[in-house]
Amino acid sequence: MCGIVGYIGNKEAQNFLLEGLSKLEYRGYDSAGLAIYNGEAISVQKTKGRLADLANKISSNVMKGSIGIGHTRWATHGKPSDENSHPHLDGTEQFAVVHNGIIENYMDLKEELIEKGHVFLSETDTEVIAKLMADLYDGDLVSTVRKVAKRLSGAFALGILSKHEPNKLVAVRMASPLVIGVGEEENFIASDIPAILKHTRDVYILEDGEMAVITEGNVELSTLDGAEVNREVMRVSWDIETAEKGGYDHFMMKEIYEQPKAIRDTLAGRIRNNQVDLSQEIGLTVEQLKGIEKIQFVACGTAYHAGLVGKYVLEGLARIPVETDIASEYRYRNPIVDEKTLVVVVSQSGETADTLAALREAKSKGARVLAITNVVGSSVAREADDVLITWAGPEIAVASTKAYTSQLIVVYLLGAYLAKARGLLSEETMTELVTNLQQLPEQAEKVLAQEQTVEAYARSIAKHHNLFFLGRGLDYAVALEGSLKLKELSYIHSEAYAAGELKHGTLALIEEGIPVIALGTQKAVLDKMISNIQEVKARGAYVLGFAPEGDNELKKSVDEVIYIPVTHDLLAPVLTVIPLQLISYYACQERGYDVDKPRNLAKSVTVE
Ligand code: G6P
Repeated sequence: MCGIVGYIGNKEAQNFLLEGLSKLEYRGYDSAGLAIYNGEAISVQKTKGRLADLANKISSNVMKGSIGIGHTRWATHGKPSDENSHPHLDGTEQFAVVHNGIIENYMDLKEELIEKGHVFLSETDTEVIAKLMADLYDGDLVSTVRKVAKRLSGAFALGILSKHEPNKLVAVRMASPLVIGVGEEENFIASDIPAILKHTRDVYILEDGEMAVITEGNVELSTLDGAEVNREVMRVSWDIETAEKGGYDHFMMKEIYEQPKAIRDTLAGRIRNNQVDLSQEIGLTVEQLKGIEKIQFVACGTAYHAGLVGKYVLEGLARIPVETDIASEYRYRNPIVDEKTLVVVVSQSGETADTLAALREAKSKGARVLAITNVVGSSVAREADDVLITWAGPEIAVASTKAYTSQLIVVYLLGAYLAKARGLLSEETMTELVTNLQQLPEQAEKVLAQEQTVEAYARSIAKHHNLFFLGRGLDYAVALEGSLKLKELSYIHSEAYAAGELKHGTLALIEEGIPVIALGTQKAVLDKMISNIQEVKARGAYVLGFAPEGDNELKKSVDEVIYIPVTHDLLAPVLTVIPLQLISYYACQERGYDVDKPRNLAKSVTVE
């Protein structure tokens, strides 16, 4: 996720800006840049690559001045490149802008501004903000920022510097984080507290729809509508490590809690007039979509599990036969692929060697390849014919959480879009799906609120050496992910089973006291699931059941229950997986292992 810093004070801005950005490196980035007012003009230096590359560039051309903004970019619109790096300027270099977030209506704004004669130098959504500033400038920086913000939809945290009023910086927050650091004769802007912690512990946390006007000696908060905001300064007691994790003990927990936002961001801009619309991202025409005869999901690890959900969803909605393959197997099984096959590769990093190899194999056989990835400009994104980005933001913990739920969201969007194009989705079902999708972020928050119950359960099972996950249909697909997560983190052996298959062998392993997690969120097979639960209960298992809110049946057969908010059966995995992630987290903690870096595992596996 992009990082923003800003400085105004009595020292050289460059020093703080570079140092502050280095404290945001953990957020992940692919390019960096600064804009500093030097007394006459706004000077900008930016580059693709690491902060060290930027510092190198600047060392041969030192940036003088005590007011400036800086940015580390994590590519969203447009590949990582010097041109796409922030800050962005308007044509006459009066305004410099850094941005974190996504401007959903940037295409419309860009067209409008081009018509008015503005010339764009980058592929970013951010550049429209700099051009809009110049276009709407009314002689007053603050009022112009308010006008600009009104034209933007989406998520944006902004740092704005103007040559017209070089004694102030403006910061804006709308659904992307931003804090203001209060120093002595100097003030700061930052995406996140670690950037400023060395200089001050006094901060204002901006709320959505608020802005701050910062001078050397003053910070003034207001809403974007112009109302005054009076807020107490918050004194931060976190050390730098805790601050990086947003106050959580581990990146994994931070990322688990970021899921409602990741879901929201991944849905944003893809639903118009109550219809899923991917036409701006997928180049396939309606005719081509209709012509698809087979879909193959190919991926590794957690992304493979998202592909398993994809099979149920795409077959269910679009009635196209779907296979889901482990990438390292795909290539060697001589898959049957032709130009009527759509191969969907799923990869958080976009760099997994097996997935990339499978993508190349599919392409060489003539398939059209669609990538679902979290990293713009990654190898998978570059080599695929079409790309759908999961807007989860950088995932740092090795065990994948928010990337998985975001992958599921893209799978649902793809399913609805394909089904619609093929004439298989009634208006009614589309509306039902869209409504349920839009409820997911809030429902995910409700699930997260059950953390304490989940923690108590997780700690109680941490002493066991074996555990079973059971489910039918989509619950089985989620069970596989829950089991993988538990193994990765707690090193407890576990198996996920299609509940109906248990009696064909595995039931022999069920003995007195063994923990079983039984997922019963799929209403269509709930009765069958309850029978399977009774089979393990009869053999002494201790069962934690997952049931839809309002359930009166499953709860009678289990020892403990976790309730999942009611949604469309296809969407339940997004909510069901969250307690499973929390169980793994707490089981890991209880056993005293490293949550963010499990033994023997890597975040991105770039060898076959
Ligand atoms: C590694 C990670 C997993 C991830 C898998 C696929 O094994 O530890 O969390 O699911 O790679 O990674 P990708 O980046 O392709 O999704």
